[in-house]
Amino acid sequence: MSKLINGKEISAAVKDRVAAEVAELKNKGISVGLAVIIVGENPASKIYVANKKKACESLGIVSHEFALPEETTQEELLKLIQTLNSEKSINGILCQLPLPRHIDEQSIINAIAPEKDVDAFHPTNVGHIMIGDFDFVPCTPAGIIEMLDYMDISPAGKNCVVIGRSNIVGKPMGMLLLHRNGTVTICHSKTQNLKEICRNADILVAAVGKANFVTADMVKPGAVVIDVGMNRLEGHLCGDVDFAAVEPIASAITPVPGGVGPMTIAMLMQNALTAAKRQNGIL
Ligand code: GUN
Repeated sequence: MSKLINGKEISAAVKDRVAAEVAELKNKGISVGLAVIIVGENPASKIYVANKKKACESLGIVSHEFALPEETTQEELLKLIQTLNSEKSINGILCQLPLPRHIDEQSIINAIAPEKDVDAFHPTNVGHIMIGDFDFVPCTPAGIIEMLDYMDISPAGKNCVVIGRSNIVGKPMGMLLLHRNGTVTICHSKTQNLKEICRNADILVAAVGKANFVTADMVKPGAVVIDVGMNRLEGHLCGDVDFAAVEPIASAITPVPGGVGPMTIAMLMQNALTAAKRQNGIL
């Protein structure tokens, strides 16, 4: 029997912490403002952005939403970001990805002022993470580290295997586990012997984007299994891990939904708070 890692409970603890600090800042006359930009009509992105807005409201963070039409040009988007970069009431800027194909994502990421980059996607912040000296941590990997801490699971000395090498999850996840002294392997679509490598993992993080990709024969008995997947299968949400088959083998596992998802939003709120503190000379 494995222990369920409850993202709802752990994210609530993070959000309580953030809300208390936001209230403290308010008493000092400082409000926390987060700008969220969405371009186009991607249904999943619309849900994520709505959830981010809801979280802001419940924590006392002022959310400024910019919902732009699909035809928005790269120049128009860059102009908005430049305006938000110099707007004092905006502490954090997030541009929801993916963007429409005619917009170059990296150019947009590069335009966000690093001190307002609450996603930690800007090359400056990526560099800070690489050297282990950072304020902002990418929200999903940060949420996973928070979960491990809460469960008293230390990556130190353990075999940590991350499946997926995206800039949003896989790469920063590997780096954060390395900072915690894990022995890290990052796997991807070209990896040979994937099953054997995964079977050697004490901590296995699946960020593939394919429903039920991680099967029971890929999991070492007693492993900690973290499922980053958010896939739609026959109308319902499921992760990258075959939960029913893997749960009895793992020592701890995250469910989908109610696992990593709520953590990502909680860590975004924490990054917005960090941005406001830095910009007001409090950190
Ligand atoms: N799209 C999927 N995940 C994310 C995220 O963490 N940040 C942004 N900006 N876009 C995303």
